[in-house]
Amino acid sequence: MATVTQASQQTVCPNYVNGQWIPSRSTRNLERRNPADHQDLIGYAPLSSREEVREAIEAADHARAMWRDTPAPAKGKIILRAARLLEEQKDEVARLLTREEGKILSESLGEILRTVNIMEYSAGEARRLTGETMPSELANNFAYTLRQPLGVVGLITPWNFPVAVPVWKIAPALVCGNTVVWKPSELTPFTSRKVVEIFAAAGLPAGVLNMVHGRGEEVGDEVVGHPSVRAISFTGSCEVGGIIYAKAAQQMKKVQCEMGGKNPVVVLEDADLELAADNTVAGAFGSTGQRCTASSRVIVEESVADRFVKMLVERANKLKVGNGAEPGINVGPSVDEAQFKKVLEYIDIGKREGQLLCGGEQLKGAHDAGYFITPTIFDHVAPMARIAQEEIFGPVMAVIRVKGFEEAISVANNVRFGLTASIFTTDSNRVFQAAERLECGMVHVNSPTVGGEAHVPFGGIKATGIGERETGSTAIDFYTELKVVYVDYTGRKRESKIY
Ligand code: UN1
Repeated sequence: MATVTQASQQTVCPNYVNGQWIPSRSTRNLERRNPADHQDLIGYAPLSSREEVREAIEAADHARAMWRDTPAPAKGKIILRAARLLEEQKDEVARLLTREEGKILSESLGEILRTVNIMEYSAGEARRLTGETMPSELANNFAYTLRQPLGVVGLITPWNFPVAVPVWKIAPALVCGNTVVWKPSELTPFTSRKVVEIFAAAGLPAGVLNMVHGRGEEVGDEVVGHPSVRAISFTGSCEVGGIIYAKAAQQMKKVQCEMGGKNPVVVLEDADLELAADNTVAGAFGSTGQRCTASSRVIVEESVADRFVKMLVERANKLKVGNGAEPGINVGPSVDEAQFKKVLEYIDIGKREGQLLCGGEQLKGAHDAGYFITPTIFDHVAPMARIAQEEIFGPVMAVIRVKGFEEAISVANNVRFGLTASIFTTDSNRVFQAAERLECGMVHVNSPTVGGEAHVPFGGIKATGIGERETGSTAIDFYTELKVVYVDYTGRKRESKIY
């Protein structure tokens, strides 16, 4: 990512503050090019200043009371309108997403349709912000709970799902009555602008949703540290999540961090191997492996390993790597030069740690224009090898051979992350045993480690996740404060309680 000091104003993404598109006052910008075609300059993301962030937070703070007092179903209707607008514009947004992030067009479209579902679900939640009533220990007394907004919330989001992840934070945050300051990734400023345009066109009042472009160290840091921001929801690396968690803790802010994964696929000897191979390859190389849920470790029973690995290689070799905007392409580029280099470095490490079976190189020839790496499989990888322990975020799969079920579970769990895991087996006892014992937030049975549905909680444990789960009903728990109200309708002075 080159830092430039000058760019024509039209090609610099503006910030969105208090209902206005405002060009950043900063003269520092980051260039954004299509990762599948270096000649294609998309534009620039400004590196906004802390002062600009403070202005956005002030706008959000100012809009707080108005938005809090807007009935939740009215908020829900705006989110539903946004869903309709996004659906209408799905093809245009998908093309932009592919151009800016690199994932293939069908994956972009899938992300957008999933986002429509998230918006619809969140809109429905507007009519379900319910509390509880609790009978009292005393006669003519009871207690009830209310859900109340937190206030201004700060959202910090990654480039790999630049529509779905921001919306699965923004939509529930707004439905619950919070106002938002959002820092999107510097790598996807134009897709992020589209997301805000859709919410604005749906009728969101000024100040309710604000977006400021810039670096994490500056814009993100200001959002996290500002006393008016009551909660932070972050998706990104463990390294940054740790910094955010510690900083927010000093001010007793609510924090939700969704971070890395090193998701295992466990293949037992009784599995339908064709099914397992199809799903493992899809989970490992879909979205170019740039997914926190990617299937990056394959733990297979030795008795079927030779056969299974051959099936994986056959499938991986059939995948077409290239510009995801073109038909027939299965795997797009790495998102930028830094990510591309990181993946190639891990491939070098892998060559020392395991046996390279396929891929492992930059795609040559016609595709020199982009950050393309061929789908890579390493076999005979030790459970504690770096490529079996560290998140690579690229099209690299590590196969670990084990003697049986017990060893498979222990290898699967022996990692710092805990996002998702898959098990392939036809033994129903093993299914439930694995579901109970795998240390992660989401288990997939006979299906890939990736994906999730709008109404189902999403998130992980250990180094992967802190705070309530995102999406589904638990999203509401993060974006609201629970208040308890005790009501005494005796009309008399309280006597001391006798149980
Ligand atoms: C998915 O697997 O469908 O950053 C979603 C990520 C996740 C989203 C993954 N937060 O990759």
